[in-house]
Amino acid sequence: GAIPGDYVMLSVSDTGAGMTDEVKARLFEPFFTTKPLGKGTGLGLATCQTIVQQSGGHIGVHSEVGKGTTFKAYFPRVEQPLEVAARPIQAGPLPRGTETLLVVEDEPAVRHLACSILEAQGYTVLCASNGQEGLRAVREHKGSPIRLVVTDVIMPLMGGKVMTEWLKTTHPGLKILFTSGYTDDAIAQHGVLDAGVEFLAKPYTPATLARKVRELLDC
Ligand SMILES: Nc1ncnc2c1ncn2[C@@H]1O[C@H](COP(=O)(O)OP(=O)(O)OP(=O)(O)O)[C@@H](O)[C@H]1O
Ligand SMILES: [Mg+2]
Repeated sequence: GAIPGDYVMLSVSDTGAGMTDEVKARLFEPFFTTKPLGKGTGLGLATCQTIVQQSGGHIGVHSEVGKGTTFKAYFPRVEQPLEVAARPIQAGPLPRGTETLLVVEDEPAVRHLACSILEAQGYTVLCASNGQEGLRAVREHKGSPIRLVVTDVIMPLMGGKVMTEWLKTTHPGLKILFTSGYTDDAIAQHGVLDAGVEFLAKPYTPATLARKVRELLDC
């Protein structure tokens, strides 16, 4: 039921497991997932489809079991000249620093991003993928003292809250920045955080992370 006209097409392919016709028939259905409990929400493609449809486009899928899948997103081509995008608020260089920080995050992509943003701003960054690893990293650290911890809240083995309780017993002046994607998170909901403890909601931008870290270090 696509409207005739010019489209810009974005194609994404993989060489993964592919899909059976049964799965293909339901893949855009919200909450439909073949991933194990706790792994997928089944909202990935429903969200993609909604976004593309809101732009007046549509998504096509081609998949072969054992070979892979190709998604093609079609967006209506805009003919009118575009207005130059407004300058982002608070543009300008991001605050830098030379302190040593610890980043604890279980999602590898988010962990790498957070670590490389902060390293690019001049900080020395230790990275860990859960609370237990974080405690070990602090214990084994030899260089200049760790000033601030950026940590996810919910992680396997040990979450951010328990980890920071332990850290505070050995490092009383340590600043803590919790990050979480769960808006109903106990920490976010609490509203009241101890001095030197802040909360940054995910997803965050490189700029908000860099500013929040500097702000907390300076307070
Ligand atoms: N590239 C793909 N290759 C094979 N199967 C896929 C692919 N993308 C989606 N599917 C199938 O469609 C289902 C629904 O996809 P969707 O992205 O909506 O949810 P999900 O991937 O299961 O969960 P989430 O996106 O929250 O991680 C998947 O569980 C999977 O069975
Ligand atoms: Mg998905």
